[in-house]
Amino acid sequence: MSLSQLPFSQSCENNKAPILAVLQQSFRTTRQVLEIGSGTGQHAVFFAAHLPHLTWCPSDQPRFIAPLEKRIALQGGDNIAPPVSLDVTAPWPLAQGEVDGIFSANTLHIMSEAMVTDFFRGVDRHLSETGSLCVYGPFNYNNQYTSDSNRQFDIWLKHRNIHSGIRDIEWIMDLANTAGLSLEADHAMPANNRLLHFSR
Ligand SMILES: C[S@@+](CC[C@H](N)C(=O)[O-])C[C@H]1O[C@@H](n2cnc3c(N)ncnc32)[C@H](O)[C@@H]1O
Repeated sequence: MSLSQLPFSQSCENNKAPILAVLQQSFRTTRQVLEIGSGTGQHAVFFAAHLPHLTWCPSDQPRFIAPLEKRIALQGGDNIAPPVSLDVTAPWPLAQGEVDGIFSANTLHIMSEAMVTDFFRGVDRHLSETGSLCVYGPFNYNNQYTSDSNRQFDIWLKHRNIHSGIRDIEWIMDLANTAGLSLEADHAMPANNRLLHFSR
């Protein structure tokens, strides 16, 4: 399979540079980042190439692993690990406190609320005592959409899967606090997205 035949996301191409600008600060002393829900792997290969001081460890649900492996074989550098199968609802295939960074983009509004809760339980267990968590995507504030396009997107998400939906930042902060994390920064990003940086 050639590069042009692999799954491709235009939104990844559009958002990767603004996300990188934040990660260069948030992960500046981080050594090993686990990515949850790597999807096409475009973020993984780009961030690994531009954050050479750390190792990037992509993961996703089993059905995404084969194309992810292929993209990494074609485009990945030395500091990207082979992708691992990881569904947040099952035990994560890594040790307690094994990574000092966790990143996830555009996943919390796809997962059900129960899965988002599992996501933060896993973060609590596997992020080191000095680690950082960065999550990117759309969020609501006090149950309010931040734009009409996000409202439309939420309708589309729920039509596709009734358990999906844009999450309230207040609920995400509660889950993060229960996981021993506090909000370091809430970055405004293009296209009405946010990048939330939490640390222990
Ligand atoms: C919209 S895609 C985002 C992919 C990529 N991060 C991006 O920004 O383009 C949502 C991702 O969440 C992942 N995902 C959904 N439910 C999951 C779960 N229970 N455990 C792990 N990943 C999950 C999907 O497999 C998919 O890769």
